[in-house]
Amino acid sequence: MRYCAVNRAGKSIVLIGMMGAGKSCVGRSLHRRTGLVLRDIDEIVAANFGTSIPEIFAEHGEKKFRKAETEALRCMRGEEQRIIVTGGGIVLRKENVEILRSHSVIVWLDGDEQTLFARASRKQNRPLLQTENPRKTFSQILAARRPLYANIADIRVDTSVLTDEEVAMAILVKLGRIRPKRRSLISP
Ligand code: S3P
Repeated sequence: MRYCAVNRAGKSIVLIGMMGAGKSCVGRSLHRRTGLVLRDIDEIVAANFGTSIPEIFAEHGEKKFRKAETEALRCMRGEEQRIIVTGGGIVLRKENVEILRSHSVIVWLDGDEQTLFARASRKQNRPLLQTENPRKTFSQILAARRPLYANIADIRVDTSVLTDEEVAMAILVKLGRIRPKRRSLISP
């Protein structure tokens, strides 16, 4: 099944949320279900540097990474409707938020802290979690960012007990593009 006009205003769907929220996997699912082009900011930044995110942090530092994130967003201005997957820190810069707001419906993938941390720490590829106490670091970052996510989100989905496919379906239901098969997928 394909959902061509995902929302009437023709806006892109941007996924925001903490590391471990499942943004990349849900993005791929939305791409399959809608047929919309998928853009992943981390992938664009990594491709522009010609290396991985951990390498960018190690060699160039977080500041340059953040600048590159913004640059990638700027380059996407004017593009047609897309699914856009962001890195967890995209909400840190005001300009990023303004760009996203100008052309997207912003979907916040949230979850309970334990679950998000368990998912985020499965792979050792998150530079910000390479600390003495990653659990504490994660908690601090999440506490600082939750209000930022909440402030810009049009839609919030709690991913804690849902599969990536269920999250994608819940988003499309909330956007009003498909009818729910299971009411339990939709939280208020
Ligand atoms: C970051 C999250 C990462 C990546 C980078 C910084 C963050 O993306 O952009 O390591 O600041 O939360 P994911 O959210 O996909 O892990």
